[in-house]
Amino acid sequence: METGFSHYSVMKNEAIEGLAIKPDGVYLDCTAGGGGHSLEIVKRLENGKLIAVDQDPAAIEAAGRRLSEYSDKVRFARSNFSEIESVLGDTRVDGVLIDLGVSSYQLDTPERGFSYNHDAPLDMRMNPDAAFTARELVNNYSEQELRRVIRDWGEERFASRISSFIVDERERRPIETTFELVEIIKKAIPAAARDKGPHPAKRTFQAIRIEVNRELDIIEPTIRSLAPLMNSGGRIAIITFHSLEDRIVKQTYQSLASGCTCPSDFPICVCGKKPTFKIITKHPIVPGEKELEENPRSRSAKLRIAEKI
Ligand SMILES: C[S@@+](CC[C@H](N)C(=O)[O-])C[C@H]1O[C@@H](n2cnc3c(N)ncnc32)[C@H](O)[C@@H]1O
Repeated sequence: METGFSHYSVMKNEAIEGLAIKPDGVYLDCTAGGGGHSLEIVKRLENGKLIAVDQDPAAIEAAGRRLSEYSDKVRFARSNFSEIESVLGDTRVDGVLIDLGVSSYQLDTPERGFSYNHDAPLDMRMNPDAAFTARELVNNYSEQELRRVIRDWGEERFASRISSFIVDERERRPIETTFELVEIIKKAIPAAARDKGPHPAKRTFQAIRIEVNRELDIIEPTIRSLAPLMNSGGRIAIITFHSLEDRIVKQTYQSLASGCTCPSDFPICVCGKKPTFKIITKHPIVPGEKELEENPRSRSAKLRIAEKI
């Protein structure tokens, strides 16, 4: 088991600036990871507090070490951020950061089974106590379900062939490891497409990881449940890593920023809907050239910020 936790915090300055931190405020980092963003938040606090959440115990441990100097200002909670109401209880917050997806540490720790570059049991759980693994998915989803996951979450044009090759292969024996899956994907993708562009397993691995961790399903309900837990003027900053996530964040902000939804021919408003958020970033913020050079993994990152009214 690797002990070092290495993760480059994406758009650190932009996210921290976007939160407009008040030294006495209460801040919530929903995805503490290696504690890079959290550290920048606590450094700016005087009497304020940070609540640092992650579902991965390895992340909580790493963030704890990184923030040890500030332990009087931090409360750690190991939880899925979809259960944020129970983490916060009666506490109201002045800012929220969500840096979605997996950390480099998770990707690069072979035994977590996230990486097509390392041979390991198929796993991909961010929460190692969760019951559902990539192995379960690959061996038990119907061909139709596999196709849906690989096509919708991976945007993989060979989703049908890959699903059918997986189903053929597992009829012989269960698919147990990342490299077994990589070989099946390579066989399924026609040579002309396989040998150019990114690694042929990249999209399928991303798709399976998203499904195993229910990554997309929880974004909108989490933003909606956070809104009433934020103090007026508080900011929410969300960093996403692919277009599907970004679209959900953008549309949820837009929905919370819009008021009355009554038909235009209604003489008076009967829905009573009032805007909850003001959108701060009309267009998403993206990493600058220097960051892209230092951390190519930030290539697809987008940051969107909204403010509680
Ligand atoms: C991109 S990393 C965050 C890195 C962090 N901002 C830093 O600067 O080190 C994402 C982290 O969020 C955690 N995570 C992802 N989805 C989560 C969820 N639904 N609930 C709790 N933690 C989650 C992952 O376990 C991972 O540690």
